[in-house]
Amino acid sequence: MSKDVNIDWSNLGFNYIKTDYRYISVWKDGKWDEGKLTEDNMLTISEASTALHYGQQCFEGLKAYRRKDGKIQLFRVDRNAKRMNDSNKKLLMPEVPVEKFIDACMQVVRANEHFVPPYGSGATLYLRPFMIGVGNNIGVKPAPEYIFSVFAVPVGPYFKEGLSPCNFMIADYDRAAPQGTGGQKVGGNYAASLHPHLIAAERGFADCIYLDPATHTKIEEVGAANFFGITKNNEFVTPVSPSILPSITKYSLMDIARDYLKMPVYERDVYVDNLDEFKEAGACGTAAVITPIGGIEYNNELHVFHSEKEVGPVIKELYRILCGIQFGDVEAPEGWIFEV
Ligand code: PLP
Ligand code: COI
Repeated sequence: MSKDVNIDWSNLGFNYIKTDYRYISVWKDGKWDEGKLTEDNMLTISEASTALHYGQQCFEGLKAYRRKDGKIQLFRVDRNAKRMNDSNKKLLMPEVPVEKFIDACMQVVRANEHFVPPYGSGATLYLRPFMIGVGNNIGVKPAPEYIFSVFAVPVGPYFKEGLSPCNFMIADYDRAAPQGTGGQKVGGNYAASLHPHLIAAERGFADCIYLDPATHTKIEEVGAANFFGITKNNEFVTPVSPSILPSITKYSLMDIARDYLKMPVYERDVYVDNLDEFKEAGACGTAAVITPIGGIEYNNELHVFHSEKEVGPVIKELYRILCGIQFGDVEAPEGWIFEV
């Protein structure tokens, strides 16, 4: 690390810290400019930007990991690039070429290298790519111009202390509509989650769990993370629905469960009145990594899986392999790791 920064790496939470450089590129007259790094963390945009009024924006989240040998690597950044383009298509925004997206992330990590936490601290450099519709516009229609930007923040765990179980409650609200934008990473889904999250937090839960918006019988998302369960038959099960965000961590865990732990893996409906089928359950995502689910409150009863205090053995093993791959200690499947 070239420059010294005064950060207590082992006590980082998930909070904004201004790092030195961010990448910014503008789409205008039908094309992207070259993009550049800037020290300015303020954006000046038209008051009539579609991102401000009509939610025409999307974002991504991924991490840079410091390995034992000091080198830095990204995890499946190509997947984030593709998922962002899926969001872009859905909201009639221009696509960002995958190579441009990856290059932007690489540039931001290199320029902020001294903010990548040391190996062993458990912390990482979180990257936040995003796209906003800007320019002068007042009717409900796509913006004339767009900004694609990537900034970086060193982070620790999203839900309290690393790998310790959290309790969740079933939300009375939906984050997305059945045929809406739940499967894309667009800001509106998160705006809709603020109120249910507040209710859960006020009641002492880490977050809420969303059921499928059409029938409210099946588990979809755990706050800003996907759900998975380990059945009593030792199968890895995770719900499938167009209103679930396709989590890159979840698809990685499915591969790890199948290929490293030799478990049967299923994407299928998970009924909230059949939680008894699971001996362990977890939430997974870039920010959440794997957060074991201690219990779920549903109809005023707390359904406890493995334990409210202890991590179950299968989740412990999934966590060890996932983090081992991300930090470069365990051999990764081909194409998962991008060295910076
Ligand atoms: N679900 C939601 C709603 C999210 O915001 C996230 C975070 O990105 C995830 C799931 C997990 O996705 P990923 O593993 O790609 O970070
Ligand atoms: C992520 O896991 O990257 C997320 O986007 C979760 C949340 C911070 C929105």
